[in-house]
Amino acid sequence: MTPQIISDIATLRALVGSARSAGERIALVPTMGALHEGHRALVAHAASVADAVIVSIFVNPLQFSEQADLTRYPRTLEADAVSLADSGVLAIWAPSVETMYPDGATETRVSAGHVGTLYEGASRPGHFDGMLTVVAKLFNLVQPDVAVFGQKDAQQAHIVRRMVADLNLPIEIDVVPTVREADGLALSSRNRFLSADERRGALALSEALGAVEASAASGLGEALAEGAAAFGDHDAVKLDYLVVVEPKTFLPVSDGYRGEAAVLVAAQVGSTRLIDNTTITL
Ligand code: PAF
Repeated sequence: MTPQIISDIATLRALVGSARSAGERIALVPTMGALHEGHRALVAHAASVADAVIVSIFVNPLQFSEQADLTRYPRTLEADAVSLADSGVLAIWAPSVETMYPDGATETRVSAGHVGTLYEGASRPGHFDGMLTVVAKLFNLVQPDVAVFGQKDAQQAHIVRRMVADLNLPIEIDVVPTVREADGLALSSRNRFLSADERRGALALSEALGAVEASAASGLGEALAEGAAAFGDHDAVKLDYLVVVEPKTFLPVSDGYRGEAAVLVAAQVGSTRLIDNTTITL
């Protein structure tokens, strides 16, 4: 069965309230829609750890730094609902912009702090504050026991975890591994914008991560050089950043760092921005 779509706050609160009264554990999967297998992996995880799963679908204007990017972001609510048929989802929470922001953009923002200005935050100013603000609103509206995020947006997952810890929010954050195409490309709602040639070029991201991992034993500088070399061949692909960070702080690792680290990469592929990441041991 296709899950019901709810767009008003009173109905959402009533539904969540009755699930809670029935003693059910509630999971929230926050998304912006255009659902793909990566999202369905989040939903499958949510259904395995909770009794009632709410998927939110809301393209959040606050987290877009460019109007053109917001305008072209895919909106496919009906198809998304059909794709969640028989997935165990109780309801799709799909509010309008007016419902989420009745007085226009919020005066109050949740700040993602210093890490929110790095990497994705440096290229998309205000993105993480806008993302955290809507996630805080979604958490307050649904009041889930657990919320599920994708590892593909590793910096986002780190920042959300940090907010939950810093503000003592009683919510468990689960992060689900990235789903990839057979050739390594990480699934993303933005992949649909790639031409056939750009789609080939987009493999530079996962190839760069593989190259950093393969040469990690040669030291940080060498590994990053090998990773950056993966971007040499593709005219349509422009590397934005390739960086190795400490998983606990998300700050760049210092020379001589030993242990697990996250490798983050972002590139502009034609008019589409893509990100990816992996974990290595230095
Ligand atoms: O990852 C996303 O799709 C969005 O950033 C999120 C978490 C749904 C907030 O708008």
